[in-house]
Amino acid sequence: MSKYRKLSFVCAVTASFVAAPAYAEKFGLGRTAHADEIAAWDKNVSPDGVGLPTGSGSVEVGEELFSDYCAICHGDFAEGVDNWPKLSGGADTLDHEDPLKTVGSFWPYLSTTWDYINRSMPFGNAQTLEPDEVYAVVAYILYSNDLVEEDFVLSSDNFLDVEMPNRDGFILDDRAETEYAIFSKPPCMVDCKDSVEITMRAAVLDVTPEETRARQIQEMIKATNPNARYTDTEEPVAAEPAAETGELDPALVAAGEKAFKKCKACHQVGEGAKNKTGPVLNGVVNGVAGSSEGFRYSKPMMTAAADGLIWNDEELAAFLKKPRNYMKGTKMSFAGFRKEGDIVAVIAYLKSFP
Ligand code: HEC
Ligand code: HEC
Repeated sequence: MSKYRKLSFVCAVTASFVAAPAYAEKFGLGRTAHADEIAAWDKNVSPDGVGLPTGSGSVEVGEELFSDYCAICHGDFAEGVDNWPKLSGGADTLDHEDPLKTVGSFWPYLSTTWDYINRSMPFGNAQTLEPDEVYAVVAYILYSNDLVEEDFVLSSDNFLDVEMPNRDGFILDDRAETEYAIFSKPPCMVDCKDSVEITMRAAVLDVTPEETRARQIQEMIKATNPNARYTDTEEPVAAEPAAETGELDPALVAAGEKAFKKCKACHQVGEGAKNKTGPVLNGVVNGVAGSSEGFRYSKPMMTAAADGLIWNDEELAAFLKKPRNYMKGTKMSFAGFRKEGDIVAVIAYLKSFP
């Protein structure tokens, strides 16, 4: 399991940090990390509860937080949206051919859930939750797995009382003694087959990346449309018609900033924004679709871009209402805004980043 390995890797790095002065001196590089720097970074929470901060959070509060920060990818009930991980379900499937491994069905210790979420979620906006909030979402995930009742409150006091269903499902890895000898015969390196023939080509299997084609289309857009949001063009990029930006209603922009919380997991805007799961959205309104430098768009998005799609208010509103209906096959896994007002507001907010 990679996440358990990751945790032990972190411990190993901690150990080497402590031993670092010798290296620093030997190579004349860097400096020894201060204790508070290590403490800020070393947030391990172990199965025995070591590292767990004091605090608590209820299922009730967790449900609200989960709906705001997690449901967009993991579903309202932690059941998972599309291919984003499912965090609930799968009980009693571990001995099936295709088991469903979730926090509830598979993870042996609750501390791993706490540590993982505290360290890396919400995806794209990691380490923004307070300890009490982490307790609350962990409580909610337990509830989604039918492991606690709806009035449950998880805290640093009762944390170790929670027993995960699969706590005894792991065994020590003894393959080095039991299996290695059987599988480690000297490998054949020459003339291993009598005849060799090619049965399938990568192009046919459709595993060859279409980087070149995507790049060609981007070049083409760049050559024909001055509004394309490239940063590496030789000529200065033509400015947007600025009139509209001047007339933005500040209250609407503020409402849009709030609605943009739903987008933040995948998109950045503003100065220093980078492509994440989704492309940078600076200048997206009235800009050419599919033109954020270096972002790998889906085929349908690139096709629409090549056909000259411009994200004006109407197109953008239609897209944000139901991305998948508007553009079949888009990579954007966002269900869509239910409220028309959110769409108008978010577009106004995006306009404030020309
Ligand atoms: C933008 C999408 C997104 C959002 C929002 C998000 N996650 Fe995740 N989450 C992921 C992805 C992707 C992974 C798998 C990461 C990996 O395997 O490296 C993941 C993995 C997890 C896992 C581990 C699941 C497993 O079985 O390996 C947990 C637990 C989790 N997320 C909890 C949360 C919580 C709690 C929140 C809200 C505070 C949240 N996530 C918000 C995308 C998201
Ligand atoms: C789960 C991740 C995710 C969320 C949440 C999300 N997006 Fe996206 N978005 C993407 C991806 C991925 C693409 C690229 C789509 C493609 O290539 O088909 C995209 C594309 C776009 C585009 C087209 C950009 C371009 O360069 O042509 C716009 C506009 C956009 N998103 C706006 C939004 C807004 C506004 C929200 C919030 C309401 C949002 N997105 C929420 C992942 C996301």
